[in-house]
Amino acid sequence: MRILTGIQPSGVPHLGNYFGAMRQVCALQDKGESFLFIADYHALTTSTDANELRNNVLNLALDFISCGVDLEKTFFFRQSDIPEVCELSWLLSNVTPVGFLERAHSYKDKLAKGFDANCGLFTYPILMASDILLYQANLVPVGKDQKQHLEITRDIAIKFNNAYGEDLLTIPECLIPEDVAIVPGIDGQKMSKSYGNTIPIFGKEKEIKKKVMSIVTDSKGLEDKKDPDICNVFALYKLFANEEEIQQMRENYMGGNYGYGHAKLALFEKMWTTFEPMRKRRAELEADIGYVKKILDENGKKARQEANEFLAKIRKAVGLR
Ligand code: ADP
Ligand code: TRP
Repeated sequence: MRILTGIQPSGVPHLGNYFGAMRQVCALQDKGESFLFIADYHALTTSTDANELRNNVLNLALDFISCGVDLEKTFFFRQSDIPEVCELSWLLSNVTPVGFLERAHSYKDKLAKGFDANCGLFTYPILMASDILLYQANLVPVGKDQKQHLEITRDIAIKFNNAYGEDLLTIPECLIPEDVAIVPGIDGQKMSKSYGNTIPIFGKEKEIKKKVMSIVTDSKGLEDKKDPDICNVFALYKLFANEEEIQQMRENYMGGNYGYGHAKLALFEKMWTTFEPMRKRRAELEADIGYVKKILDENGKKARQEANEFLAKIRKAVGLR
């Protein structure tokens, strides 16, 4: 079984990204042949800052490798090292009804957020379908927001196979981890870069502590009894702590004489020690960025070779060869 997923390089990763995506990707490494790529072509649909993109790509590689992507098990590469994915995208676009793209929620959401209605943004799902179909992936783990893109991928693959040959493209399955809770941000809404309410995984101790200390709570005083199940601090603490620690924190809340300041400090400490090994690994990798670039280059070359072998078949099927 081939498991493949792509991630957009879009800045400093936060707790929502870690628990909602990074940890999942790492957990799947043992379940099959694992492919992970940095979707830098896709990033161009919403940004024209070249330096920012370059930095984001390398930082994302550092983040993922330090958070547990095992380079022995996972094929980790950069989307743009395989420009053939754009060729496949063109071939797929000719069997894709415009209606598939017009219905895409993500396109409509981006327009509502004020992004330009450029053609790249509109045809984004076709490029995503190419990412998946080019490597004949069977299983694609993604967040809920990408479900429709996966449905479009399947529909495009079926159209293509109907036109050119039933067994040409592998129809992928989507894997949406249902048990992943939405991680709340410091204001209690879903943690997201676009809401400016994130707690980053990596960063200076002082800055992260400041974020944790600014998590919004109700205005109960130190001596008051508190309800843990409506508290953002407790919700975040639960992501890091074991059963016993969670139970202890619950009792502290309900017993009174335990302030939100105490809970925030406990959360910060837990978080800081949990990410300690990742921080160390990241610092080591950052000092040896040439190694990271080399890995991406080597993997890119291998992926390109494989993509070309597969595309030769597709070119022939459509009549280009
Ligand atoms: P952001 O909302 O900060 O822009 P992205 O949309 O880039 O984050 O999300 C990247 C991945 O992280 C997706 O798989 C998404 O499902 C996951 N993710 C982001 N925020 C959260 C959250 N608050 N809780 C759970 N998962 C999240
Ligand atoms: N669109 C995905 C996202 O924003 C990233 C992505 C690009 C992707 N190509 C993919 C995910 C192929 C899975 C498979 O999260």
